[in-house]
Amino acid sequence: MKVLLTGASGFLGRHLLDAAPPAANILAQSRRALSLPSIQALPFDLTSENWLPHLPTDIDLIIHTAAESNPNRCEQQPAIAEAINYQATVRLADFARDIDARFIFTATDLIFDGEKGNYNELDKPAPVNFYGKTKMRAEEYLLANHPDAVSIRCALIFGKPHDNRMTFSAQVVAQLQAGQPVNLFTDEYRTPVLVNDLAAAIWELSELDFTGPLNIGGSQRLSRYEMGEIVCNCLNLPSDLLQAKLTTDVILPAKRPRDCSMDISRAKELLKTPLRSYESAMVVVLGLV
Ligand SMILES: NC(=O)c1ccc[n+]([C@@H]2O[C@H](COP(=O)([O-])OP(=O)(O)OC[C@H]3O[C@@H](n4cnc5c(N)ncnc54)[C@H](OP(=O)(O)O)[C@@H]3O)[C@@H](O)[C@H]2O)c1
Repeated sequence: MKVLLTGASGFLGRHLLDAAPPAANILAQSRRALSLPSIQALPFDLTSENWLPHLPTDIDLIIHTAAESNPNRCEQQPAIAEAINYQATVRLADFARDIDARFIFTATDLIFDGEKGNYNELDKPAPVNFYGKTKMRAEEYLLANHPDAVSIRCALIFGKPHDNRMTFSAQVVAQLQAGQPVNLFTDEYRTPVLVNDLAAAIWELSELDFTGPLNIGGSQRLSRYEMGEIVCNCLNLPSDLLQAKLTTDVILPAKRPRDCSMDISRAKELLKTPLRSYESAMVVVLGLV
């Protein structure tokens, strides 16, 4: 199976490389050149015009994770976000359809407005920030134009990064371990998913004939503050380092939806991969088991 993985140098991309089945012959696209054994690196910018002729046409599967994934940067630099999150996805989707390659896209829970929470796949997306809008439009284009495509609405992803990238949970752990106070929202809810579970779920999905939107998150709805409490419990640290904040206390470039928790029952019915709770997975991430 020949697989094009975009965003192979990213947080999820590196975990997808680690979890790849032995039969996968991977072309690993990223902007930064990756040098890893038994991986063919394709370093190029997906927003430049001339990358399509570099791609072989015998690809069976495209897993498209490359994105500007930071909502604040998307708000501040909309042209860059539009180019990678929407336009590059459209071109890649057309290419995949033309060569009959299955396409797995990583959308986001931030396509929802956060007013309802516990969103299922039938709920209507209504993003409140530019990042969510680019991802929603890319998903709409993909699902309308490619018959063999899946759009995964990924929840907030946590786990061990391969580099010094500071994900939300890595930042919380680092600050708590350094004895520093951490500001955490008590009114912003997500269903965080362990990066290893998400990567395994994506590879499992690559073998199925499922198409359409699919929510993939963990099995626990939590506020950012509650995530901090779990980290404190796991590390046996006092929770008085946690500073409760409301989203209205802080002005950020991108508007934050209040409750983007997702109903993941469809994924649980479809997949054998466990989608663990933050609590049970954090114990693994922190090396406590
Ligand atoms: N992280 C989360 O909590 C979260 C939640 C929901 C959905 N998602 C989605 O899941 C996917 C993976 O997220 P992540 O956290 O792994 O992202 P990430 O760590 O920010 O990685 C992004 C990847 O995209 C590549 N990239 C960015 N701009 C590019 C361009 N113009 N041309 C080519 N490659 C480019 C980066 O390459 P370089 O490193 O070489 O620059 C990197 O490999 C994204 O689609 C994101 O929107 C993430």
